[in-house]
Parts: sequence; structure tokens; C-alpha cells
Amino acid sequence: MSARTRVLTGITTTGTPHLGNYVGAIRPALRMAQAVDVDAFFFLADYHALIKCDDPERIARSRLEIAATWLACGLDWQRVTFYRQSDIPEIPELTWLLTCVTAKGLMNRAHAYKAAVDANAAQGEDADAGVTLGLYSYPVLMAADILMFGAQRVPVGRDQVQHIEMARDIAQRFNHLYGAGKDLLTLPAAVVDEDVATLPGLDGRKMSKSYDNTIPLFAGGPRALVDAIARIVTDSRRPGEPKDPDSNALCAIYRAFATRAQGDAYAADLRAGLAWGEAKQRLATQIEDEIAPLRARYDALLAAPEQIEMALQQGAAKARALAAPFLAELRVAVGLRPLGSVQSYSAAVAAIGGTHQRSPVLKQYREDDRYYFKLAEGEDVLVHSMGFLDGRTANEAWQSLQNCVRQNGFDTEDLDATRVVLYRAPLGEEPRGVLGFIPLRAGQTVAGAVARLREAIAVLERARAEKQTDIPKR
Ligand code: TRP
Repeated sequence: MSARTRVLTGITTTGTPHLGNYVGAIRPALRMAQAVDVDAFFFLADYHALIKCDDPERIARSRLEIAATWLACGLDWQRVTFYRQSDIPEIPELTWLLTCVTAKGLMNRAHAYKAAVDANAAQGEDADAGVTLGLYSYPVLMAADILMFGAQRVPVGRDQVQHIEMARDIAQRFNHLYGAGKDLLTLPAAVVDEDVATLPGLDGRKMSKSYDNTIPLFAGGPRALVDAIARIVTDSRRPGEPKDPDSNALCAIYRAFATRAQGDAYAADLRAGLAWGEAKQRLATQIEDEIAPLRARYDALLAAPEQIEMALQQGAAKARALAAPFLAELRVAVGLRPLGSVQSYSAAVAAIGGTHQRSPVLKQYREDDRYYFKLAEGEDVLVHSMGFLDGRTANEAWQSLQNCVRQNGFDTEDLDATRVVLYRAPLGEEPRGVLGFIPLRAGQTVAGAVARLREAIAVLERARAEKQTDIPKR
């Protein structure tokens, strides 16, 4: 079996994505997620956003725009685990467990906190003026994000490397205190991609919101793109005069959207006297070729936020299916155990049902002359069929159910608070036969139950692919 690598990264949801975010973070992360041996976790770090921003409207707007941006840029949410930090209550809980083993002195050294203290000192203010505990312990929350999912590789910008190192320190300390010789927490490594150029902004400095020199990715449409490019600072050389392609941001931005040969040709044309105005036009066209189809998807997604919500809820269900049992194990490790006879770590882990999800099992059975199937994980039934007149029809329904769920081509309807009907086709499409019923557990959403069902079907499929055998016929 090939070893899979868990790659995880968070995107703080403040602001609106610009070209620098796209070239420096979004595009490389999505490429990395396509590798066959990678399990990618991408999440909206909206708890982190609250540390930096106390404007609720901006927080809400930015979550929507950033989620839409990643989906529009090609994030495959069925494959990647894509979720909001704030949908995973296990993360703040782990944050607390970690907070209790984190040295205050370690946090004193965090760059963001130190920068705030230095700025205060420079202005003759109290060292901690305006510093919240959120800002101070920012790295602990970030460590929880990473350690919760056992991420091995964390792609980040250079400014975040210190935080990953802190996550390693915290994990080591936790393992030392509670691991009893076992590495409970996986030590993560930062991945800083040296090949990914940091894009220069309008004034030639790094493109960044704080310099107010950005080019919007989607916001404002093609018009805003052209307008921003028009504001890229160039010198006053006239058409026909030779120009230094590296004297401003044009060429570097062009290269980020072009093949090497195209970039070389662009630079050569500037040296040969291409007018700045025309160079800007060519740059706009080059960028637009790549992002126009993405922008169309972005606009469609913004117009249908419920689709984004659905994807994120399914992502949260997938993430929590990993986080909840793992956190249960960590609680036991630190001594938050069920009371009673349970004394040892291993006995307690066994008592909470182990950390490994039980594998899904398909059961086919016959009752009162009807044929049924159900898919269960341990005691939990994930879906059960209606009764069919013969085994063949039941089997076909099971095949069809797998296809529908895999391809999202079904419809559901709430029967009551505990059961949902699963239809073969989306509303308004034929054939609309009932395939079965999804039981809902207390507090479970339909999206969550469907996500769990989809995961179980994927697990069965993988197991089948590995064994190269068919489902046993009863
Ligand atoms: N702090 C990161 C940033 O500002 C975002 C982030 C939050 C993150 N949690 C994370 C990145 C976990 C990687 C892993 O860019």
C-alpha cells in the first residue's frame, strides 16, 4: 500500500482575494491537492479572522467570497476535505488541551504578538495595549487546526513558518506528557514553495492588502482588472523606446499567467520598444484568458450561496468524522475519562469504542417476502432500502443508490425529524423512484448524514478495489 500524505492549510477569512492570493496560494494548493497520494484538507480559518476583525458584516462577506473563490478555482470538494474551522467544535476543545501545555514564554516569542508590542513601545504606549488574548494565543489555535487532523505537510507563506514550528513544539510537549511512549500527535512540517513567485503589486512591492497595491481576482469583473492594470507604475519611456522588462511589475505578473516562452517573448517585445499601454493590454488579455471561466463560476456560486453552504456542511461532516473520535482519544489521554472501572489509557480508549471508525457493512436480507438491503457502521444504520419484490431489483437499487450518492444525482425529502427519503433522481427529473431511507441521529443534519453515507460508500469502493472482488451476494 502506498503511504498517503496529509496536507492541510487554512485561509484566514478577512478581505477579498486578489491576484497575489491566487498565484501564491490558491493555484499551487489546488495543484498539490491533485496528486494521487495526497489527502488534502483546506479550511476557512474564520476563528482566526475574528482575531483580526470585529466587523461582523465583513467576516460574513469574506467567508462567502473566499469559499466561492476556492470552489470556482477548481477545488473538488468531494475529494478534498473542505470545511469551516468554526463548524468543527472539536478544534476549540483541542485548543484548550493544547493551551494547557503551552509555555507562556513560547507565545511571548510569536512574531505577530511581538510586532504589536514593538509598535506599542514605539508609540510610548503600554506594551499590551490593544493586544487581545486571541492575538496572543493565535499560534495555539493554529496548532489545534493542524494537529487535529494529523497533518504532515502544511503549505504556508514564509510569515507562517514560525507558527508551524510552534505547533511542533506544542505537539512534542503533549506527546511527552500524555503519550506514554506513543506519538499521539503527528509533528507537522511547513512547506514553503520556493518556486512560487510572490507576485509584485501595482507599485512593484509584494502584492498585499496592507500596501493597497492589489489587483482583484474576480471582484468588479474584467473592468476592474483592466483598471487596476492601468495603474501599474511604469517609467515614461515612449512607444518604440527600448524598455527594461524588470523595471516594474508587468513582466513578473505576465509570467505568472504564461508559459516560459510566452514570458520570454513578452520581455523581448518590451526590450524592442513595445508601448507600455499595449503591454498592459496584452497583460490583461493574458490574465483574462485564465480567469474568465473561473470568474463565471464564481459569479454563479455567489448567486447560489446555498450550494456553497451544502459543500461546506458536507466537508464539516467529513472532518468531524475524523476529529470527534480523535479528540475522544485525546480526552482519555489527559485523564478526562469515563468514571468507574476504567483506569488505564488503553482500557478507556476501548470503552469509548476505539478510535477507528468501524468499517461499513452492506447487509442484504429478506423479510415477509420482500428483499431489503442496508448499509451500517457498527450499530449505526446509514441507509436502508424500501422492500423490493425480488433480489435482483434490490440489487439494482443498491447499485443505483451508490451511483446517485457518488454523483450527487439524487433528491431527499424529510419524512420527520428522524428519517429522510432518498429519491433516485433530483426533483423534476425522471425516474423519481424511492431508493431508501436515511435515518437521522439526534442533532445530525441531512447534509451530514448524506456526507457520512458518501464516505461509507467510498470506503466500500476502496475495499472492493483492493480486493478486486464483488460484494458477496447475500
Ligand atoms: N494563520 C494562517 C494565515 O494567516 C491561516 C491559518 C490558520 C493556517 N490555521 C492554519 C494555515 C493552519 C495553515 C495551517 O495565513
